[in-house]
Amino acid sequence: MKYFNTNESQVNITRPSLPPIIEILPYLVKIWRSRTLTNMGPIHNEFEKKLSKYLDVSQVSIVSNATLGLILTLKTLEIQGEVITTPYTFVATSHAIKWLDLKPVFIDINKEDFNINYKLIEEKITPKTTAILAVHCYGNPCEIEKLEKIAEKYNLKLIFDAAQAFGSKILNRNLLKAGDASILSFHATKVFNTLEGGAVVTKDSTLKKQLDIYKNFGFVDENNIKVIGLNAKLNEFSSAIGIIQLKYIDKYLYKRRLVADRYNEALKGQNLFRLNNLTNYYGYNNSYFPLIINKNYPLSRDNLVEALRLKGYNIRKYFYPLISNLEMYKNNKSSKIENLPISNELSDRVICLPIYPDLTKKTQNQLIKYLLNPSVMLK
Ligand SMILES: Cc1ncc(COP(=O)(O)O)c(C=O)c1O
Repeated sequence: MKYFNTNESQVNITRPSLPPIIEILPYLVKIWRSRTLTNMGPIHNEFEKKLSKYLDVSQVSIVSNATLGLILTLKTLEIQGEVITTPYTFVATSHAIKWLDLKPVFIDINKEDFNINYKLIEEKITPKTTAILAVHCYGNPCEIEKLEKIAEKYNLKLIFDAAQAFGSKILNRNLLKAGDASILSFHATKVFNTLEGGAVVTKDSTLKKQLDIYKNFGFVDENNIKVIGLNAKLNEFSSAIGIIQLKYIDKYLYKRRLVADRYNEALKGQNLFRLNNLTNYYGYNNSYFPLIINKNYPLSRDNLVEALRLKGYNIRKYFYPLISNLEMYKNNKSSKIENLPISNELSDRVICLPIYPDLTKKTQNQLIKYLLNPSVMLK
């Protein structure tokens, strides 16, 4: 289980968007006839092209999931030693670093946008630091220009975990063109899904070529295996889903915004929760709706989550537990709680509300009622 349970009577924080089933049928016929199921087949290649057009980026290498995308990007860029990153993210970000026997160095986050606090980075750079792996947390864009300046000054690679950021936009710039590479996730829970899937986006055509080799066991051609690669190829079925989803993604994003607007309107001007400003950002993708529970709320965060679950709302404490407190990371010097006060505080106070394009007003209004008046729930 990842983000949702399979009990259909529960309202989960996300519900995968799927296109009309009829549209997949011609692709299925094609796949059945050709018997090309994977190995960078024609549908994979068509999806890659269409995706790079939609994202307005020059180089895209689609992969079977973002975790492998992260691992392969770090590997291909020959990252060594220490990687500056955030603990306030999904575990895959740090796991990718650790998987390559690199050392994550955790930096605290901003209270307002949950993203890495660039002002704290320079003091943590050592001769062993080779990269910054920042995360657009909840799809909320990082301060990319500040990060780019630091990366340039210290000659570090700059990689963005953009797993949650599909469709997020900033003014005057394409978010995905920042740094050396960005990694998107197309997991079922994401704004744009191909069931499982992901992509590495870069300006660098050499990096793209390398990634294509790394994601296919290291094969350069039929007779040459150049590097110790992995298998991270996206299959033809998921690629077909991706092509069709591209037709609907703008509609999904629009409908998410309507849901977020309803929450914002209903929850503004009270002192029980802190709403973040994410929806005020230019082109935010509304992939999550985080809510920070204030100390004066009548229930603890954990009791609120339990009470809502009993009412059928499978609310998530997201991101909890904090990565730096996990057994395999907690002995890291940078994991000390004093080093990460804001990450620890938010990890203890945040919940994510359900947000997906077809969340009904009725379900949403009932949840808002419970949130604003928890005593109703406890009766
Ligand atoms: C921030 C972040 N990084 C990485 C991942 C891993 O993505 P995937 O499930 O496609 O491997 C996810 C989501 O699952 C994520 O939210």
